[in-house]
Amino acid sequence: MALILDGKKIAGMRLEILKEEIEKSGLSPRLATIIVGSDPASQMYIRMKHRACEQVGIGSAGVELPGDATTEQVLKAVTQLNKDADVNGVLIQLPLPKQVDTERVIAMVDPKKDVDGFHPFNLGLLFSGKPRFTPCTPKGIMTLLAEYKIELSGARAVVIGRSIDVGRPMSALLLNADATVTLCHSKTKNLAEEGRRADILVSAVGKAHFVTSGCVKPGAVVIDVGINQLNGKLVGDVDFEAVKNIACAITPVPGGVGPMTIATLMENTYRAANVQLCDTAW
Ligand code: GUN
Repeated sequence: MALILDGKKIAGMRLEILKEEIEKSGLSPRLATIIVGSDPASQMYIRMKHRACEQVGIGSAGVELPGDATTEQVLKAVTQLNKDADVNGVLIQLPLPKQVDTERVIAMVDPKKDVDGFHPFNLGLLFSGKPRFTPCTPKGIMTLLAEYKIELSGARAVVIGRSIDVGRPMSALLLNADATVTLCHSKTKNLAEEGRRADILVSAVGKAHFVTSGCVKPGAVVIDVGINQLNGKLVGDVDFEAVKNIACAITPVPGGVGPMTIATLMENTYRAANVQLCDTAW
C-alpha cells in the first residue's frame, strides 16, 4: 500500500507558519477576487479562498459580476483593483463565461499582483527558469513533494494535461528541479506506455479513473490533480483503489492537491505584499 501524501495536513501546517510570519511582519496583505456568474463550483472555490485568507490574517474582498458581463466590464474591474494600493493580489476565478475574452483579462492583471501566476510575463519567467509568481496548483505540488523529500533531480516525470494553470507550469517547475520531463496530452500516442516510464506521474486531465494501474510503473509517485464527480462522489483522475497497490506514494482526492493550491495562494499573496514594498525585490 502506497504512502498517502497528506496535502490537507501539510497545507494546514504551512498556513499556521504563514499566519505567524504575517503577524510578525506587521504587513496587512490583501487579496481581491473577481467572480463572473454563479457557477456553484466556482462560488465554492472562492468561498474557500476567502476563508483561508481569514485563517492566516490576509484581508480579502470579492467583486461579483453578473454571468452576462462583457470583457470590457471585467477589464474595468481588474483595472480598478490594479490601481488600488490596498490590494496586493488580484485573482480572477476561472473559467470565465464564453463571451469574456479570458486571455485579455489575464493579461490585464498587474504582473506584480498576479498571485495566480497566469500572466504571460510570469509564465515567461517560469519557463526561463527564474520564476516570480508561479501558478498555485503546480507550486503547491512542488511543496508537497519537497515536504515528503521526494527526489526530483534526474527523475523521469510525466505530466498528463497541457493546461496553462496546471500541466504547462507543472512541466516547467519539474524541469527547473532537474527532472526529465515528458508532457502528454490528448494527441499523445500510447499514453499508458509513457505513464509507465514515470518515476513521478502527475495527472491533470479532469476525467474520472483516467489513470489506471496499467499506466503506472511499480514504485512511482502519483499526483492526482483531478476533481471529478463519479456516482455522486468526488474522485480524482486516478483509479485510486487499484493504483495505491502499485505506487510508492499517492495523493488522495479530496485532501491531496486541493488544499495545497489554496495554501500556495496565501503564500503568493503574502509574497506580493512583500515585493510591492520594495521594487528592487521585484
Ligand atoms: N479555476 C480552476 N483552477 C483555478 C486556479 O488555480 N485559479 C483560478 N483563478 N481559477 C481557477
